[in-house]
Amino acid sequence: MVLAAGKGTRMKSALPKVLHAICGRPMLWHVLRALHDVEVSEVVLVVNAELEPHVLQIAREAGHNHVRVVLQEPQLGTGHAVQVALRALESQDGRVLILNGDMPLIAADLVQQLLAAGPLGIVTARMPLPSNFGRVIRRGDRVVRIVEQRDATPSELTVDEMNAGLYVFDEPKLRAAVAELKNDNAQGEYYLTDAVAHFTHAGEHVVPVIAPDYRSVLGINDRVELAAARVRVNALLCEHHMRAGVTIVDPATTYLEPGLEIAADVTILPNTTIGRASTIGAHSEIGPNARLQSAHIGEHVVLTDSVVVDSRIGDYAIVGPWTHVRGGSVIGTGVRLGNFVEVKHSELAPGAKARHLSYLGDAGIGARTNIGAGTITCNFDGKQKNRTEIGEDVAIGSNTSLVAPVKIGDGALTGAGAVVTHDVAAGERVVGNPAKPLPKGT
Ligand code: UD1
Ligand code: MG
Repeated sequence: MVLAAGKGTRMKSALPKVLHAICGRPMLWHVLRALHDVEVSEVVLVVNAELEPHVLQIAREAGHNHVRVVLQEPQLGTGHAVQVALRALESQDGRVLILNGDMPLIAADLVQQLLAAGPLGIVTARMPLPSNFGRVIRRGDRVVRIVEQRDATPSELTVDEMNAGLYVFDEPKLRAAVAELKNDNAQGEYYLTDAVAHFTHAGEHVVPVIAPDYRSVLGINDRVELAAARVRVNALLCEHHMRAGVTIVDPATTYLEPGLEIAADVTILPNTTIGRASTIGAHSEIGPNARLQSAHIGEHVVLTDSVVVDSRIGDYAIVGPWTHVRGGSVIGTGVRLGNFVEVKHSELAPGAKARHLSYLGDAGIGARTNIGAGTITCNFDGKQKNRTEIGEDVAIGSNTSLVAPVKIGDGALTGAGAVVTHDVAAGERVVGNPAKPLPKGT
């Protein structure tokens, strides 16, 4: 049972708290991803009305195809969330695993450890003080109750064992306990945490499972904690790739997302962001100052100070500095793209070059063709986008304007400053504005 219906007031945001992103994925995705690796018979998500339209998609992306969504409206506290969820479920013998939806750093092995703890267990952690988390009040090796920070006495506030927000409870006992919850506390809410005192009064033993590192169970309540969680998730992602053979020169300024495929012997230089579903082949060097989003980079590529979005870069290509490739472009083997070149929805065949100051949009460019500095494909006529097709071994002179739709044949040439408004035949040489063929023999 994942509790995610809270208002998230401390985020001061129009966006529900668990939709705030950490390394490119909503906070809730991280929680569900950890649960994916734990054996549970059913996943129940407790949500509010703003979150409801988004949760199935997030659950699917985290690998859960069957989840039950329960709407909690209004939100009267974590205990109330569990009451509402239990009401929606047929009662069963067995145990309910409950997690707060705002703990994105949680790892599957800790959940497994809790499941091994017995019928009634909670995860706790030693944390630095002061802290806003609920305090775990013990008698020996048992938890007798949990007190929220706002309800705690000064001596309870000196307790440095926190309630992580991750519980396993025998279902019939849980049903009995949440039926008794009261909201006579500082926040006027029904606290799930009060169930622990109920178990103690009933003579039950609640077993604590201590997390080895409090940072792995932190609950995110505001944007400062959100930023801290991102740093930690990112550090773990970098560590994962470094252990798999990737050189990351500066993990602190390398921004990764889950689900990247980065081959061994790739080098990532500082200030580089690599986003969703990108792949990078062996021996490539990315950065400094690069951004890849849904980018597929081949092997032995050198890409510096550049942006690649929704595009492919072939083996041995050299890209940048200051190149922008986007819109489903396909850059062939050994292509060279350089300073201030933008390529959109275009294909460059192997060995083509555009090294300075160009816009290549909706264009096909043949093998070994050289695009001179300042060349522009004039792809938009005010109504629609038009294609430019350039053959192999073409020499496009500096500052050529290619007024699309237009075709340039293999081996053709345009002079510097040509404004090409008509097709150019293979081997033909054109100059001027509007461009006209040079007489034969000149
Ligand atoms: C909660 C715990 C606290 C623990 C901390 C760990 C309670 C009363 N307190 O405090 O002991 O140290 O987590 O992070 O449980 N939610 C609902 N419906 C509601 C209210 C909340 O679904 O009506 C969800 C929230 O979306 C959130 C989770 O429950 O994901 C926890 O709620 P939150 O308000 O963040 O509780 P904390 O004050 O952090
Ligand atoms: Mg919280």
